[in-house]
Amino acid sequence: MLNMVHFLKKVLKDKLTDIEISKLYSSFDIIGEIAIIKIPESIEEKKEIIGNSLMDNIKNVKSVFSQSSPVRGEFRIRDLELIAGKDQTITYYKEHGCIFKVDVRNTYFSPRLSTERIRISNLISDDKLQNQKDVVINMFGGVGTYSIIIAKKNPQCIVYNIDSNIHAHVLCQENAKLNKVENRVFSIFGDAKDVINSNLSNTANRVLMPLPEKAHEFIDEAVLSLYNRTGIIHYFSHVAAKNKKDVIPEVEKDNELKFKSYLIDLFNITVVREVGPRIYQVVSDIKVM
Ligand SMILES: C[S@@+](CC[C@H](N)C(=O)[O-])C[C@H]1O[C@@H](n2cnc3c(N)ncnc32)[C@H](O)[C@@H]1O
Repeated sequence: MLNMVHFLKKVLKDKLTDIEISKLYSSFDIIGEIAIIKIPESIEEKKEIIGNSLMDNIKNVKSVFSQSSPVRGEFRIRDLELIAGKDQTITYYKEHGCIFKVDVRNTYFSPRLSTERIRISNLISDDKLQNQKDVVINMFGGVGTYSIIIAKKNPQCIVYNIDSNIHAHVLCQENAKLNKVENRVFSIFGDAKDVINSNLSNTANRVLMPLPEKAHEFIDEAVLSLYNRTGIIHYFSHVAAKNKKDVIPEVEKDNELKFKSYLIDLFNITVVREVGPRIYQVVSDIKVM
């Protein structure tokens, strides 16, 4: 995520008016050779100018897309419109010493979760000092970003990466090979509930649930997948709060309700980012006892 206020002011100063520049959002994503930007309707007609300016001024960017819908649907994907360069939505992205083939049109991908990915991966490294067994289930694994970083940083760890989007499943298989962890990251195609009920109950000591909009519907399966129904769950959610300081009590209240059938210790809450006006994406680290 780049802060583009200064950058765009600089590259667009002779092409857009100050008022038009002020309407732009304050950030955009660069994923490998692709830049993705949201353009407000009021300056839609300037999209090619904006796209070409980004391409001309950012090294390595070969395609610029305007994001024309929110991330949506089961697969959490978005509509993209080409505004400059090649019509190519597959690219390679590097993060934390790993490389990922991603398809920004057909699969979910966000570089904005990079800090969270390494945080969770490091937590596993810390736990290993306590001789924990390392079997991780990523219920909503996408192209394998969390799973592969976890496996790469934690050589004793095996990870089951579940996803119901066939494109994500295939890319996760390819990414596991690219990063030489194909013997420890297993990409499984299917609905997380079905996969756990039929094959992965009583298996893991850690479960990731990176689907904040719907993770609450999968809590029973997450617990079922834990070995002896005990272990750690990284539970992603969206929480409404008046401001950032009110987020933590709201999360505590919400988790108490959502996990009421289980004995838990909510030992950490990370506020990842604001995803809408007064809506925060949050990860709760929960020990199920
Ligand atoms: C928000 S994305 C996160 C992907 C990945 N963890 C990442 O951060 O890049 C959620 C993923 O869950 C998948 N998904 C949605 N519903 C699912 C389900 N019922 N079972 C398995 N995967 C599902 C989507 O296809 C999507 O790839």
